[in-house]
Amino acid sequence: MNLSAEPKPVTRTIVVTSGKGGVGKTTATANLGMSIARLGHRVALIDADIGLRNLDLLLGLENRILYTAMDILEGQCRLDQALIRDKRWKNLSLLSISKNRQRYNVTRKNMENLVASISALGYDFVLIDCPAGIDVGFVNAISPAQEALIVTTPEITAIRDADRVAGLLEANSIYNTKLLVNRVRTDMIQRNDMMSVRDVQEMLGIPLLGAIPEDTHVIISTNRGEPLVLKKKLTLSGIAFENAARRLIGKQDYFIDLNSPYKGIFQKFQDIVFGT
Ligand SMILES: Nc1ncnc2c1ncn2[C@@H]1O[C@H](COP(=O)(O)OP(=O)(O)OP(=O)(O)O)[C@@H](O)[C@H]1O
Ligand SMILES: [Mg+2]
Repeated sequence: MNLSAEPKPVTRTIVVTSGKGGVGKTTATANLGMSIARLGHRVALIDADIGLRNLDLLLGLENRILYTAMDILEGQCRLDQALIRDKRWKNLSLLSISKNRQRYNVTRKNMENLVASISALGYDFVLIDCPAGIDVGFVNAISPAQEALIVTTPEITAIRDADRVAGLLEANSIYNTKLLVNRVRTDMIQRNDMMSVRDVQEMLGIPLLGAIPEDTHVIISTNRGEPLVLKKKLTLSGIAFENAARRLIGKQDYFIDLNSPYKGIFQKFQDIVFGT
């Protein structure tokens, strides 16, 4: 028996959620997951978005999924057969819950057991991509998580739903919540046509993890199945995601400038985006 062995640090299980659909949960899960893996951690992504699953597409892994969590629960396969390893970064894996909605009868307990099994394999991070809405899929997706990332756009409808979700998370004993503001447009903020990130953050009262600009490269990368953060010359949104990933793992404590990201920290970003 090796008495000097350090206990392995516990897995951080983070649910990526929003309330309002289509604000960028899946995009954020793929890019943050890929970034954290590139920073050397073992990351498992769980696509809890049944029927409309698309995390596999964003990662370019759609043809590799033979088994899902449903098959594990039905005894058709082992966990390691359903955990698909990314071709580029072997320390990044993807687990889909189900291929179609009909076969969806996963319980909270099932989700908790799945995450516990992944954790036992030595993963450092489990990121759960939540389905849109706050029905049973949401309840299942949040149940194994100790932390949450709430994604919103700077629009009042998305912010209102994010606020509701923040309340639901607290009611489910998830108090460690961070905010990611997506699809930020500095030109619109400057014209007072869009709320600044600071305004959004203050309305919600949730600590800010990062702000991601509106960027057509997001759509291009989705279509290619290649997360933005993999590009050799990072685009604006790729840099912003990488910055958020570094903050999530505690490696960076400043925000990048959405106008001039290649220059690093930049006061104007604070002025325009955060409205200081
Ligand atoms: N920063 C961005 N710039 C431009 N387009 C974006 C950005 N973020 C997301 N999108 C686009 O918005 C759409 C919705 O994104 P995504 O699928 O990640 O949202 P979601 O919250 O997971 O949606 P759902 O609630 O349906 O699961 C996609 O077409 C995506 O490419
Ligand atoms: Mg999604």
